[in-house]
Amino acid sequence: MDINSVAAGSPPLKVLFVASECAPFAKSGGLGDVVGSLPKALRRLGADVRVALPLYDSIAREKYRLVEEPSCRVVCGGGEVNGCGVWRGMNDGEVPVWFIEHNRYYARPGIYDDHGAEYGDNAFRFGLLCMAAAQVCHDRHWLPDVVHVHDWPTAVMAVLLDAWRKAGVPLGRAAGVLTIHNQGYQGYYHPSALGYLGLGSEYFTPDGLEAWGKINLLKGGINYADAITTVSPTYAREILGEPGGNGLSGYLQRRGDDFVGILNGADYDVWNPETDRLIPANFRATSLIGKGQCKRELQAQMGLAQDAAVPLFGMVTRLAAQKGTGLLREALPAALNEMQLQLVVLGSGDHDDENFFRWLARSYPGRVAVEIGFSEELSHRIQAGSDFFLMPSLFEPCGLSQLYALRYGTLPVVNATGGLEDTIIQYNQGEGQGTGFKFYTPEANALRATIGWAVSTWYDRPSHVTLMREQAMQQRFEWEASARKYLDVYRRAVAKRGG
Ligand code: ADP
Ligand code: GLC
Repeated sequence: MDINSVAAGSPPLKVLFVASECAPFAKSGGLGDVVGSLPKALRRLGADVRVALPLYDSIAREKYRLVEEPSCRVVCGGGEVNGCGVWRGMNDGEVPVWFIEHNRYYARPGIYDDHGAEYGDNAFRFGLLCMAAAQVCHDRHWLPDVVHVHDWPTAVMAVLLDAWRKAGVPLGRAAGVLTIHNQGYQGYYHPSALGYLGLGSEYFTPDGLEAWGKINLLKGGINYADAITTVSPTYAREILGEPGGNGLSGYLQRRGDDFVGILNGADYDVWNPETDRLIPANFRATSLIGKGQCKRELQAQMGLAQDAAVPLFGMVTRLAAQKGTGLLREALPAALNEMQLQLVVLGSGDHDDENFFRWLARSYPGRVAVEIGFSEELSHRIQAGSDFFLMPSLFEPCGLSQLYALRYGTLPVVNATGGLEDTIIQYNQGEGQGTGFKFYTPEANALRATIGWAVSTWYDRPSHVTLMREQAMQQRFEWEASARKYLDVYRRAVAKRGG
């Protein structure tokens, strides 16, 4: 236990994470990484953190050695009783995780959708998760001081805490902390879910959950959480205004000092080129021979021309408008026609984007390789084997992929927004300093010019690429530093609750 983080003699702060994703069990993007790593960092600082997650079909009970515990009985609004199985596992041997089993809701192929078709009952699915997580704590006499929820799926927990507080339910004494990982997804649903959650009409107001006649789950969380965080300081500023706030900036502004931006960290236990077992050769800043081998093998594996001299751009991404796919569609064909470069893409999501990248690979054989799908292993190989990492997001709350790229000496080419602005140091051509290439207007021409800037630096100023790589690989975004800031937020939220 860290004596700086927990006052001497006081019991450890008890924190329950309730989330829709947690790596490695269930992950569709960075939210999964954060819920997989932040609890570990908090535990190392002395907090007693536990996680509650749905037991999705895709989670292999044997692989993760999950153990069945006594089930729980959740009484929903209107008296409907849902029996839920409860399984317990450990994340990375350090963080206890409760998996909530409910076949009707969670035994499905996807987390939120089935190949793009969103599940219509998500408000019920994740609402049940919140209620079951509370019931599990109650049954085990483990009452958290803080319940930390993430994005729209579990934001409603902050509203539930308010209702339980008023009804004298013990768990209602916990402080509610909401982290916004992406203001672009808010969770709009039919108000019928309110009854299921046991929330009365007093919550169906513009200052509660109501928005345009529906419920907006993220809005409910913003209005009721004791503290709200988002995942980078620049994104915090962006969503306090429009268009970044997606209609909710006014509600965030009202929260004043209760709202802060805390930069995510990277889990260097998982993302470390010196020890990574998923890549063909390990390497470090002082010896990059292994990186050359990773590039050769990536080119061979993906059917690209095996040429060490050509700059290889990598992408690992959800394919969604947020990630700048519109700019890429316009800029990439021209860039490939004008410049000597290769591109490797791993991604899935929007069907039109997927088709664009398939077309690009067919049109530039040997120069462009595309894998549509989700692969942890290939994502590491791309980070390790590429020279540049392409991430022209229109907005990016934090972004973890560029942090991993830095650690692997793969220089990010990014739009200077949100966490990308906060974590990438612009290349200074005079001195060869910097960790990446940024552009400041989200337009295809700017992206094309910046790809061109990276390519010309590669060919004309190779010593600068070497210097930048060194600087990039030395950057550290440790979870420990972020976890200390979360502990401060927790303490303030608990104090507000009179704890
Ligand atoms: P976001 O959460 O918006 O998708 P981040 O950069 O924060 O963006 O996190 C993305 C995470 O998801 C990274 O760990 C990245 O490696 C992973 N990822 C995204 N797409 C894929 C994919 N197709 N295959 C494997 N990993 C992926
Ligand atoms: C979201 C954001 C991403 C962030 C991640 C983890 O998915 O799009 O920028 O890094 O959450 O906080």
